[in-house]
Amino acid sequence: MSLSVVILAAGKGTRMKSTTPKVLHEISGKSMLFHAIDAAKEISDDITVVLYHQAERIQEQIEAHYENVCFHMQDVATYPGTGGAMKGVQTKNERTLILNGDMPLITKDSLLALTSGEADINMSVIKLENPTGYGRVIIKDEKVLEIVEQKDCNEAQLLTHTVNAGIYAVNTSLLEQYIPALSNDNAQAEYYLTDIVKMAVDENKIVNPIYVEEEEFKGVNSKLDLAAAEVIHQNRIKKNLMMAGVSMRLPDTIYVDSRATFEGECMLENGVSILGTSHIVSSHIKAHSVVEDANITNSDVGPMGRVRPNSVLVDTHIGNFVEVKKSTLTGVKAGHLSYIGDATIEEGSNIGAGVITCNYDGKNKFQTHIGKNVFVGSDTQLVAPVNIADDVMIAAGTTVTKDANSGELVLSRTAQKSIKNFFYKFFAKG
Ligand code: UD1
Ligand code: CA
Repeated sequence: MSLSVVILAAGKGTRMKSTTPKVLHEISGKSMLFHAIDAAKEISDDITVVLYHQAERIQEQIEAHYENVCFHMQDVATYPGTGGAMKGVQTKNERTLILNGDMPLITKDSLLALTSGEADINMSVIKLENPTGYGRVIIKDEKVLEIVEQKDCNEAQLLTHTVNAGIYAVNTSLLEQYIPALSNDNAQAEYYLTDIVKMAVDENKIVNPIYVEEEEFKGVNSKLDLAAAEVIHQNRIKKNLMMAGVSMRLPDTIYVDSRATFEGECMLENGVSILGTSHIVSSHIKAHSVVEDANITNSDVGPMGRVRPNSVLVDTHIGNFVEVKKSTLTGVKAGHLSYIGDATIEEGSNIGAGVITCNYDGKNKFQTHIGKNVFVGSDTQLVAPVNIADDVMIAAGTTVTKDANSGELVLSRTAQKSIKNFFYKFFAKG
């Protein structure tokens, strides 16, 4: 690959009003910066991320997920601005693509379009109804002349609706020449990367505008922008899934993490959330259920079921208000109002309404094992650690504190007392 990528992520992101750095805010379960890195990884083997604000925190997260990403610390005090961010950055390949870390919607295809052709600089431009806040791109005879930041615009320039989307593909040799020569003689006293355009034009280099879709290139600067970008991203994910055969009822009400995967014929009803790296195979997730980091095969969940991380459901029915956590259920029915945590339950077992695995004693978590064909009566508590063998029947209302052997009936109940005519005496009139 003859392309390097630099991702600018040193800015503070003041408008996010957050203690979390802007680029770590998530879209569909993945940080904006990771969306950018993933797109970059598809087209380049030399990626540098420029950091400053909360650099350690961001670098740690990147290093935990990616190998071979380079870092550059911007000297913001001496060289503020997007041009300052590029000072000292060294890239290996002939061309360098520079993009902002706050553009989570860009795709590999658009990035490739920006690197095509023979121009010395390709830059992304968008035509906007409302150009406020963006650098204006001054174009003559289809050639870019310069980029003028809003704060530096004269009245005529302010009326330009063609704006800089903030992504550039530049001949690396030109960057090496122009970045050290940038000045901060402008309204914000910053080093503007955008000034390299005028420098190139002055040397008769070719700067091509590449018109791009606003939807893909819009930067995220506030939490309002973040939410709007996520809606667009969710629509993409859901469209792809539906095209691949996943059915969705009222898809606008469904949330699917970008890391979730589906196989076979799946159905998601309205209000469903599929979070994390869930993997769902030929299953039906009914209305308003939440599934997180779980594996579900040939099963149905909900309505209003909750399947939490590290759960595996195979050939299983999970009904309303049932919560499953870190448990493996194979061929199980748990229809109503239960908590199943740190458990394994085998084929043919039935979990009655209101069954609770008491998995936590306030200090530690313990396992519950339920074998095959076990009938667990309603309102049973299983105090873990506990092992129920195959073919056991547990009577309703039992508190199970000891292991049960195959074939047993387990029951812990005080005998029922019935007092004849008590009601009529108690409520006697007169
Ligand atoms: C920049 C462009 C503007 C363009 C807009 C598109 C400049 C001078 N202006 O403006 O023409 O219309 O993007 O969104 O480039 N960053 C650093 N170090 C810094 C400052 C910023 O790394 O010192 C990073 C930010 O983290 C961000 C990106 O650069 O990812 C853009 O910074 P931002 O402040 O949003 O630039 P704009 O003022 O929006
Ligand atoms: Ca911006």
